[in-house]
Amino acid sequence: MKITATSLLVSICLLGAVDGARILAIFPYNAKSHYNVYEPLLKRLSARGHEIVAVTHFPQRIRLANFTDLDISSTLLTISRNNTLPVPEIYNFMIWQKILRVLTAGICEPVLSHPEMNRIIKGLSKEHFDLLVIEIFTTDCFLGIAHALNISKIVGAISSVGISWSNVMRNPENPSYIPNWISSYTGRMSLLERSINTVLLPIVKLAYRIISDEPSYEITRKYFGHDLPDFDALRSRISLILTNGHPAVSAARPLAPGVKEIGGIHIPVSGPKPLPVDLQDYLDSQSRNGVIYFSLESQIDTSTIPNQVFAALYRAFEQVPQQILWTCTKERMPPLPGNVKCIGWAPQLSVLCHPNTRLLINHGGLLGLQEAIYCGIPILGIPLFGDHHLNMAYVVEKGLAMQLDLQQFSYERFSSSLNEILSNKSYTEMAQKASFQFRDRLMPPVEEAVYWVEHTIRHDPDFLKTGATELTWYQYLVLDVALIIISVIVFVLWLICKLLGLLFFKKKISIAIDKKTK
Ligand SMILES: *[C@@H]1O[C@H](CO)[C@@H](O)[C@H](O)[C@H]1NC(C)=O
Ligand SMILES: *[C@@H]1O[C@H](CO)[C@@H](O)[C@H](O)[C@H]1NC(C)=O
Ligand SMILES: *[C@@H]1O[C@H](CO)[C@@H](O)[C@H](O)[C@H]1NC(C)=O
Ligand SMILES: *[C@@H]1O[C@H](CO)[C@@H](O)[C@H](O)[C@H]1NC(C)=O
Repeated sequence: MKITATSLLVSICLLGAVDGARILAIFPYNAKSHYNVYEPLLKRLSARGHEIVAVTHFPQRIRLANFTDLDISSTLLTISRNNTLPVPEIYNFMIWQKILRVLTAGICEPVLSHPEMNRIIKGLSKEHFDLLVIEIFTTDCFLGIAHALNISKIVGAISSVGISWSNVMRNPENPSYIPNWISSYTGRMSLLERSINTVLLPIVKLAYRIISDEPSYEITRKYFGHDLPDFDALRSRISLILTNGHPAVSAARPLAPGVKEIGGIHIPVSGPKPLPVDLQDYLDSQSRNGVIYFSLESQIDTSTIPNQVFAALYRAFEQVPQQILWTCTKERMPPLPGNVKCIGWAPQLSVLCHPNTRLLINHGGLLGLQEAIYCGIPILGIPLFGDHHLNMAYVVEKGLAMQLDLQQFSYERFSSSLNEILSNKSYTEMAQKASFQFRDRLMPPVEEAVYWVEHTIRHDPDFLKTGATELTWYQYLVLDVALIIISVIVFVLWLICKLLGLLFFKKKISIAIDKKTK
């Protein structure tokens, strides 16, 4: 299905009117890929007459009406992700908890102490907001703002699929088929994988409380006063959660009514933008053999790639008939093979959707995978950290991707994977099938997200929450009921034993009496 102008118009009319609301949006992490997911939503909300104040590291280059940026880019160092982190799945937990440690105090303190933030927190700017849109990731310290400014409605925004340490909506999370965020599993696991996945679930939740909640709360109280409710109370004010999933790109999962998947929201409704002339010419000219697009995006400094990996890449590239378009910094790399074109930046979606592009090689970042699937091209992934392993596992299972481990990276492995994925048509076919699934939507994801945000503004904050959100953990897991049932069973068994014992005892006595009387 194509999202036509008419269907778009219809969906916009269906949305109905909401009076302009004042919305505060807080995206405290300086990862551009996180903000990329929700920037289109904020812009669309402002275009619909809402007033947006966005706390972000990435202010708009062109000023928009009703859109004010609160630039916090000075608060954190640019992420120098020297991460060529080797992450075999079992160690993913160790790496995750390390990153969690860095991304709690390391984010809360600098961002909260920013002068502009301080003005908002202290209410000096006398601002009233109807809604808070807040990124949910490694700390909840910014929820203090909802308390300080008495904002009664909160929308949580997750730039990945639902994260397993934070589940304020009590979204179903049965570990028998829902892979943990830090795992590399899919919805179909072996007994061993299910065992690890099950054990990971409570450990990750508990670790989050210890590693993130405790230090974050200390800092939060410092800024918002000692009468600040605890995190559980603050988190319970969240009315809606948006996540960046979709069954075409990440494991299908059940969703509580207050959780909405808006995967693909960052892809413009009108499709890819036109390419710059030089890139258009370059891609047009490769109709014979096609082009491989290679990008580790902004995450990796390509010059830090180990020499033996460079050697393996170059040797394999030299042997394929395709041209390779690589986003990299040429200056600090060994001289490139003749069929490799290195450019600093490329409009990725437009390149991927060009008919001559055959393959994406990347690190398994969710946005890149979604774009490749949107354009219907297969993926060769080298997952590095975060949710990359999880993302890759799913597309490999779907048959549209192959995956290589950086630790065991060699010319032989890379070259054979490259040849397999380029020569075996089934990968492209599966990618095209997934593309069809991904595009087959009731309405464009950005309009869906706008609808649910405005729905939250229109209705009671708890409207979409299930009764599960009011239960304690042992009530939710039915442990109290289990205890009663077990107690009853034990009591009945005890009673039966007792009665049997009594009967047997009576018999014995009567036999004994019988004997005596005889
Ligand atoms: C900006 O938002 C206000 C409501 O907060 C609304 O009244 C006004 O029309 C909006 N302006 C534009 C240009 O959309
Ligand atoms: C990143 O690399 C720099 C030098 O290249 C080094 O000083 C720093 O410790 C590294 N950071 C991490 C987290 O490994
Ligand atoms: C907070 O907001 C609610 C309505 O959302 C209002 O009833 C209440 O009086 C406000 N409290 C303060 C202290 O402003
Ligand atoms: C192509 O790949 C698919 C999926 O991995 C596999 O089942 C099939 O046997 C391959 N075909 C050839 C000719 O290798």
